[in-house]
Amino acid sequence: MQEQQKSGSGFNHMRFKLSFGRMVEMAAEMGMDNPLFRCHDRAAKATTSIDGREYINFSTYDYLDINTHPRITQAVTEACQRYGTSAGASRLVGGERPPHRKLEESLAKFYEVEDCIVYVSGHATNVSTLGFLFGKKDGIFHDGLAHNSLLQGARLSGAQRFSYNHNDCDALEKMLEEKRRDCKHAVIVTEGLFSMDGNIPDLPRIIQLKKKYDCMLLVDEAHSLGILGKSGHGVREYFNLAPNDVDMWMSTLSKTLCGCGGFIAGSRELVEFLKYGSPGFVYSVGMPPIIAEACSTALDILLSEPERVKKIQDISQYFLHYAHEKGLDTGAAQGYAVIPVIIGNSWVTGFLSQQLFQRGIYVMPISFPAVKEGTARLRFFISAAHTEEHVRKTLDAVCEELPKAQELVRSYQQSHPDVFTDL
Ligand SMILES: Cc1ncc(COP(=O)(O)O)c(C=O)c1O
Repeated sequence: MQEQQKSGSGFNHMRFKLSFGRMVEMAAEMGMDNPLFRCHDRAAKATTSIDGREYINFSTYDYLDINTHPRITQAVTEACQRYGTSAGASRLVGGERPPHRKLEESLAKFYEVEDCIVYVSGHATNVSTLGFLFGKKDGIFHDGLAHNSLLQGARLSGAQRFSYNHNDCDALEKMLEEKRRDCKHAVIVTEGLFSMDGNIPDLPRIIQLKKKYDCMLLVDEAHSLGILGKSGHGVREYFNLAPNDVDMWMSTLSKTLCGCGGFIAGSRELVEFLKYGSPGFVYSVGMPPIIAEACSTALDILLSEPERVKKIQDISQYFLHYAHEKGLDTGAAQGYAVIPVIIGNSWVTGFLSQQLFQRGIYVMPISFPAVKEGTARLRFFISAAHTEEHVRKTLDAVCEELPKAQELVRSYQQSHPDVFTDL
């Protein structure tokens, strides 16, 4: 025990290195509640209930308002009676249940590619796929704002990693020109709709570059599946791309498709290779059949009720325009499902989120390290079920509360100049 204290090892010593822990303590000293891990009384949709109080909710991935759809409840109930709640083992050794293949075949059809592999987590999909497919001699060229799961996968692979400036295809080309020849295999990695900024990459240009420099391409559609394109077919429909222009169509199943997990859709050879080797698939339990059933029913609902796609596109555009009318900074957001209101200072953003919570509006503050220092923001996830009144009420409240949050933080700064040096 004494040994441990002397050497400074053990969790309590590590804990103090974590700026997050310190930040929560400082926030509490300033009178800010911890906004994380709040417990909701029911499914969190366009509105939610927390401790018996109603909120307008901007913190759900349920973009198309499909969660709790009666068709899903019925499909899951029947699947549960037949298959229970667990896949029992890895699908490789424990075998599959019909909902597994049904989901993979539906997703392959949705992307018009040969096959698809479903993993139990979206994050693990990226980590395991990139980590398994690429190695030391290869190169991974990724957008500077690529999701953590993509970065972790790139790191795990041991490949050389090249991060290009966010959405800057000239920078990507320059990098490919300089570095591609040093890599045996190369892959470009981007997202369909960026999760923190709500903007879309120039995918047609990226596809040209991938062809010119002989790279593979992985597009993470976590936030664009069901959102972009007239019928919700994602960034492929938005730009009218050919299915095979992208080697790996990746998405999570936790957003539009209301379940949990992720997938890679692509060629039969690629999917087979992943199914026999990718550690996050081979050495991990299969997805619970009820979740597979929920996701394929959600996909069916997306296809058979396209009005949901129009609704989220219309209300997102309304949100963006109303925010601009009110003089709020939405950064590069294009008005599709994810819209940040950029505040800048992390503490002000935290207080603003708390004040909105007190007014019945639930939206998360996002600050460093999730986004660059000085670009803290409220991140609004829009739902097809949000109304124009929800939007006006919320953004009016943001404008009323922002000066109060700024004043609150300014007065703390004055009374604690030595502690709050970053204000
Ligand atoms: C772009 C992107 N990729 C992957 C993931 C991980 O997906 P999941 O949360 O379903 O594990 C997320 C999560 O939000 C994401 O935003």
